[in-house]
Order: sequence, then structure tokens, then C-alpha cells
Amino acid sequence: MSQATPETAAPEQAVGGVGAQVRLRDVVKTFALGSGARLTAADRVDLDLEPGSLTALTGPSGSGKSTLLHLIGAIETADSGSLLVDDLDLTTANRRTLAAYRSGVGFVFQRFHLLPALTALHNVMVPVLPLRHLDFDRVERARELLDAVGLAGREDALPSRLSGGQQQRVAIARALINRPRLLLADEPTGNLDSHTGQSVLELILGLRDRYPMTIVLSTHDTGIAAVCERVVHILDGRVNAE
Ligand SMILES: Nc1ncnc2c1ncn2[C@@H]1O[C@H](COP(=O)(O)OP(=O)(O)O)[C@@H](O)[C@H]1O
Ligand SMILES: [Mg+2]
Repeated sequence: MSQATPETAAPEQAVGGVGAQVRLRDVVKTFALGSGARLTAADRVDLDLEPGSLTALTGPSGSGKSTLLHLIGAIETADSGSLLVDDLDLTTANRRTLAAYRSGVGFVFQRFHLLPALTALHNVMVPVLPLRHLDFDRVERARELLDAVGLAGREDALPSRLSGGQQQRVAIARALINRPRLLLADEPTGNLDSHTGQSVLELILGLRDRYPMTIVLSTHDTGIAAVCERVVHILDGRVNAE
């Protein structure tokens, strides 16, 4: 794939800081139903996420966890309300600003979504836009991240040669390649057995020491949620309890 260009490595702190601050106020998101009615997937949500915090969203399937993550990641736009990430208002920002914002958010999905034809190392480098000015060496950083997720020595492995837990570790490394201030993980352990899921969660928790960021994950696994410092329960699109 791409060759490394001569770039100077910058210390993590310079860009990462302590993570993004997120403020949702009165956020509403509806989806059209076939009948012409609308389903309210986020119902006047107020939510504050402090820089560097880790929050688990829990709740039954269909309660609106993914919708909230998509709103915070600017994958979906809210119908009304305000979504502030640091000083950026996601509800009024233009498309170009939102695209730049998204490239600075790390996403982890339940089903890993690795590209099967690419090695672990190249999968980690996928989110680096080829023409973007970089202040880091992408190959060096991808290797460092694979090491940080416990996969040193597996750089050249194809996803098919890796276990589910290892594939999710590659996906986590990929999510960190652009030095996100915000990491959004939608059911990151949902496709893993409980033991592997626990170790992937512990990995995510531990990464904050090295890569300061704000983390939001969704899970319906109460064992997983129990080790997170903050658990927000979602029901019918509403913040139900903490
Ligand atoms: N793109 C969409 N179109 C229509 N309905 C959707 C869409 N995305 C989510 N929904 C609905 O919004 C509600 C919340 O979904 P979701 O946020 O995926 O919940 P969770 O992640 O908690 O399972 C569900 O009723 C779901 O069917
Ligand atoms: Mg979901």
C-alpha cells in the first residue's frame, strides 16, 4: 500500500490532549416509518461527557444506543437540539467541517469491518487519507498501535488468520490511527465470547493512559458495563437512569 513519507513524530499530548468534551442538549432524532409515521430514536436527550471520561451506554436492543453514537460521531444528523463537541456545533457545521470532524473520531464496530485482503498493518492505516498532511509516520504509528493492542509480530497477518478478539484489536488500532480525541465503540464486545470481550474492554480502558481520549461505548452486557466508570441506561430513546 502506501509508502511512508518523511514526517516527524509529534508527542501524543500535543494533539490528543485529554479528550473531547461532548454536550448534548434536547437532542431529537426521528426516522420515517413506512406507514408515514415517525419513530423517535433519540427523544430529547441531554448528555454530558467530560474530557477523558469513559461512558457505557446500555439498554435493550432498539433503545437508541447506536443512534446516539451515530449522532455524536456525525454519521447521523439530529432533527433538533444541540450537539457540541468542544467548540464545534455538529447541528450547524457545514459538510466539509463535519467530514474533517469525522476523520478525527475513532469508530469501533461490533463486526470489526476489517478489509479481508489487507494485512493487519494495512488495515490499521486505512483511515489515513492519502493526501492529508501528516505530522506522523503512518507505518511507524500503525506498528506502534498494533503493539499497544497486543499484536506485535502479527503485522503481516490477514484478518482470516486472526481470532475474533485479535480482529477487534486490529479494529481498535485502526480507530486510533488519526489520533482521535473521541472514540466511539458500538457493541465492541458483541461478537466476542465473554472472556475475550472482557479482555478487549480492559484493553480499551487501558489505552486511555497512553492515548488520552474520551470514550463512549454501547453494550447490552451488564458485566461489561459494570467495569466502566459511568453507565448511562437508555430506554426508548431516552436517558433513563445512570
Ligand atoms: N436508519 C434507520 N431507519 C429507521 N429506523 C431506524 C434506523 N436506525 C435506527 N432505527 C430505529 O431506531 C431505534 C433505535 O435504534 P438503535 O439506535 O439502532 O438502537 P440500539 O443500538 O440500542 O439497538 C430502533 O427502533 C431502530 O429500529
Ligand atoms: Mg445498536
